[in-house]
Amino acid sequence: MALKTDTNAPANRPANVIAVADAAALATAAARRLIARVATGGRSAVCLTGGSSPQDLYRLLATEPWRSQVPWDRVHWFMGDDRFVPESDPRSNMGAARAAFLEAVAPSQNIHPIATNAADPETAAQLYENELKKFYGADRLDPARPLFDLVLMGLGGDGHTASLFPNSPALAEKTRWVVGIAKAGMEPYVPRVTLTFPAHASTREMLFLVDGAEKRPILARVLGGEDLPANRAYSNGELVWLIDRAAAPETTA
Ligand code: 6PG
Repeated sequence: MALKTDTNAPANRPANVIAVADAAALATAAARRLIARVATGGRSAVCLTGGSSPQDLYRLLATEPWRSQVPWDRVHWFMGDDRFVPESDPRSNMGAARAAFLEAVAPSQNIHPIATNAADPETAAQLYENELKKFYGADRLDPARPLFDLVLMGLGGDGHTASLFPNSPALAEKTRWVVGIAKAGMEPYVPRVTLTFPAHASTREMLFLVDGAEKRPILARVLGGEDLPANRAYSNGELVWLIDRAAAPETTA
């Protein structure tokens, strides 16, 4: 199914929608795609996401047969958005990713958290933007040389993705790579720090993970081409929606 192309996203291409049986199949399919993106070549970079949808995938990555297929020394792990809470807080996206797999398998120098212990979200955003630029080796993103090999994304019940909520001025950000979000549009209502659309787009593949019946209404709206933040996300490489049957609108199930 092709998504309606967002006019704010010049680099957008029609999305692929891949429907699998259930949440377990979704995690397995995502693990395969992740490994395919990081298994070859030199250094690679994955941008993780928060929420519940990627947690099964994260646990799989620390478990055989997946664990030994990831070249842990060569893969760097970033977070596309985080809640402005300490990593020890159960609401922390990086805290959850560390507990699910990173602390068991990834060298600590390859883990790149957002500094949620900075003075405020805006400072944390600036620090993370600097870190991304240093990793990338340039201050400007070149569409021919993606920052990430894979970017994971989730879909919120209001159509948000990362911490890019409906009606937020951050949706229109074209220059900054990372911004602070003073007010979240959905629970948990804590300030956020989020990569912007252009930073997320700098990837070989953007992979949305959407599962569960409660996502069906919002997914139907997204796949129907409605102007929602998740539909404004674009990728300079592939753009894939990996969904399970429970989340799939009737036309894609
Ligand atoms: C966050 C997320 C957010 C998430 C969606 C979906 O920090 O809240 O990054 O964008 O991906 O809200 O979350 P679920 O997978 O829990 O439904």
